[in-house]
Order: sequence, then structure tokens, then C-alpha cells
Amino acid sequence: MRILVIHGPNLNLLGRREPEVYGSQTLDEINEKLRRRAEELGVELRIIQSNYEGEIVTAIGGAMDWADGIIINPAAYTHTSVAIRDAIAAVGLPTIEVHISNVFKREPFRHHSYISPVAVGVISGLGPYGYLLALEALTNIVDRNGGRRTADGGHFQPGGESDGYDG
Ligand code: DQA
Repeated sequence: MRILVIHGPNLNLLGRREPEVYGSQTLDEINEKLRRRAEELGVELRIIQSNYEGEIVTAIGGAMDWADGIIINPAAYTHTSVAIRDAIAAVGLPTIEVHISNVFKREPFRHHSYISPVAVGVISGLGPYGYLLALEALTNIVDRNGGRRTADGGHFQPGGESDGYDG
């Protein structure tokens, strides 16, 4: 199984950037934990960070032929980017949106996400641990799915027999 992890703008500054909001872990430390967990799960990870919207769009498009799923923290583009949303909808890969902070506890402009309607689910406010939870969840979803894309982009209906959840 192959998963693409995308970190959006300014996340390269984690550790030094507003630590009271985002904590003290650096992006390298977060990625290291992700890689270790992925290895245990037998998942191949590709991890990128970009401050450029177009680069993120291109990476998502490129995932179509490679990945089984996407984990993305679109950072500020969450609240502005129709292009990233369209890219996710276009590739139809199950995608989990992650935010380190609880965006709903913050300024009103962070309460709207262009990405959430095309994501399988959203994890927000659990710190960097949210990435590991996303990895667990996505692995589970792709497994249930037989490693293939669903016709509807992995938009599972919770409560169904094959709802993507263990339990
Ligand atoms: C963020 C939340 C966004 O509102 C913000 O623009 C970020 C990071 C988070 O991880 O909490 O850059 O996505």
C-alpha cells in the first residue's frame, strides 16, 4: 500500500512557529514517527512539504498513478484553495485532512474548509498525533477497499457493512 503525505505552507517551520498553537515538534520529527509507523504497517510513504499551491496540485495529480490514498494538511490553503479541492476530487483517492490545531476553536476564517467536502474524514486539534491517526485510519480504509479507488473517491457511508472502520 502506498500513501502520499502532503504538508502545506509554513509547516516547514513547525517547532519554531507559534509553539503555543502548533507545539514543539519539528516537521522532521513528525515525519520520522510517520515513517516508523508506516514501516510497521507495511505501508510505503512518500512525504512532501510545499509552500506553493500549484506544486501541491501537481503532487496530488501525480498520486493518481502511484498512491492508494492521501493524507494532507493543506494548512492555510484549506481555507482558500478551490484548486487543491478540485485536484483531490479529480484523482478520486481516499483522502484524510489533518490539522494540528483545532481550527474550530480559532478565528472564524479557519472554520471553513474547501477540502473537507472531498475528504473521507478530518482530524483537527489532536496535535501531530493526528497524522498517525490518519495513517491508521487510511490504511484501514484502503485495506477494506482492496487497495483500489472507489468509484466515489472513497466517500464511505458510515454505518454500512464496508464502512471503512474497524469495529
Ligand atoms: C493548520 C491550521 C490552518 O488554519 C493554518 O493556516 C495552518 C495549520 C493546522 O495544522 O492546524 O497553517 O492546518
